[in-house]
Amino acid sequence: MPQLYNDNCIPCMQSLPPRSVDLLLTDPPYNLANFMKKRDTNLAAMRENVFTQAKWDEFDDEAWENSMDAFFREAARVVKVGGAIVVFMAIIKVETLISLADKHKLYYKTTGIWHKSNPMPRNMHLHFVNATEAWVYFVNRKRTGTFNNNGKALHDYIKCPVAPPSERRNGKHPTQKPERLMEFFIRTLSNEGETILDTFMGSGSTGVAALRNKRNFIGMEINPEYFAIAQKRLDKIKTPNPSQTVKDLALAWALGDLNPGLPGYEPGALTD
Ligand SMILES: C[S@@+](CC[C@H](N)C(=O)[O-])C[C@H]1O[C@@H](n2cnc3c(N)ncnc32)[C@H](O)[C@@H]1O
Repeated sequence: MPQLYNDNCIPCMQSLPPRSVDLLLTDPPYNLANFMKKRDTNLAAMRENVFTQAKWDEFDDEAWENSMDAFFREAARVVKVGGAIVVFMAIIKVETLISLADKHKLYYKTTGIWHKSNPMPRNMHLHFVNATEAWVYFVNRKRTGTFNNNGKALHDYIKCPVAPPSERRNGKHPTQKPERLMEFFIRTLSNEGETILDTFMGSGSTGVAALRNKRNFIGMEINPEYFAIAQKRLDKIKTPNPSQTVKDLALAWALGDLNPGLPGYEPGALTD
């Protein structure tokens, strides 16, 4: 059974025992809403339900840094020594994120890129279409931890589409991550039976991927609407079906579906 909290993640993290999490995989607010509004973009006019309208993404910079500082303090306490922490982030915020994590002795490993193979082609004749997000990988107080690369050289670049409609049937979240992206990190950085934490779980994609891969899941989300979406999605996979889905996923994994690290593999060839 997943352990879910509909609350602010900082006090929830404080209630967890020390060293109880193997992998913290999360996607916090990037705090770009005010920045984007100042730039007078037409993002809100292009589609409903965009992150610039979501109130969780509009702290002033100092308040955002303080909240991420509190997050990393608790992350360093609840994650096991040698456990992994992966945080998605806007590329322009990565440097700030790394220096905050460093204060809490998280060992910086990698900044990588998720390339969305089917982004919204907004203003494609005026500028480069935004198709990337960064992720930053740390290990808690050690230089290395679990790294299940299955003998492959895994690149710091992952290409896959945005969350498909089949993953949005229980309601929409403006920045929903695709399940297979979260699955990539879960399989690489943790083992079966271990505990995955997502402190900003939104619609619950990390939890879906964790349960499907036989991991325990702890999820935290402050917004009741998003929490309800996550709960519905997670309820449906309380008992993972070991047949088709797992077989498909194992095959995709073996083929190096998401990551071009397999020799001779054409980036994205199996993903579009
Ligand atoms: C970028 S979204 C995560 C989306 C998620 N990865 C998904 O696939 O749906 C960030 C989420 O963090 C939530 N949030 C913001 N501040 C929070 C806090 N202090 N504690 C818990 N959740 C918070 C927001 O409501 C939002 O749903």
